[in-house]
Amino acid sequence: MRIAPSILSADFANLARDVHEVEQSAIDLIHIDVMDGHFVPNITMGANVVKALRPITDAELDVHLMVEEPDHLLPAFIEAGSNIITVHAEACTHLHRTIQTIKEAGVKAGVALNPATPVGLLKPVLADLDDVLLIMTVNPGFGGQHFIHSMLDKISEANDLITFRKLLAKIEVDGGINAETLPLCKKAGAEMFVAGSSIFGVPDRRQAIDALRQSAAEPES
Ligand code: DX5
Ligand code: ZN
Repeated sequence: MRIAPSILSADFANLARDVHEVEQSAIDLIHIDVMDGHFVPNITMGANVVKALRPITDAELDVHLMVEEPDHLLPAFIEAGSNIITVHAEACTHLHRTIQTIKEAGVKAGVALNPATPVGLLKPVLADLDDVLLIMTVNPGFGGQHFIHSMLDKISEANDLITFRKLLAKIEVDGGINAETLPLCKKAGAEMFVAGSSIFGVPDRRQAIDALRQSAAEPES
């Protein structure tokens, strides 16, 4: 399993310090939430933040684009050093083309689904995803929201599709992930876990990451 701390809940005035702190817990990814104020009702950060973080961390930069029609922004995020770029299916008119553009640049392509978007929508492009199928477990736009439990069935459905077709896509979950909800998602088939407020919202980030890892290790009942 991979844990991806979301810097949306970090201290923006001390971003490098916060990233270094979670890196000490051997995390694999740093999750970067990009919001445009149109696709979601919030504005956060752009490619300049990816560019600034690139030289200060060895972690993979997992960029989650919550923007309308992301194609025009892809070159900047690719150039900035993103390792994974995830776009929303709902925001792309030509999703297949967008995925190919990301992959042709040597970056891993991911697709995200809002809670109300069915997994079936992705069937035609699921085989094109080399890493991330991001299932939102809150409505995107803000950190610190409550996990939507009905998404567990959706995770299972996506997992069945991926397993049956022996595809490469890994299920990532994002929103309301903590030591209670992580094991539920893992049991349903998720392998990558984005966590913002449950890591950066507490004073001891190392302990928070340990608690997430331990929650996954507990025997499933
Ligand atoms: C929500 C973002 C998430 C957010 C998660 O729109 O995509 O990545 O940072 O925050 P928590 O873990 O606090 O729900
Ligand atoms: Zn996110």
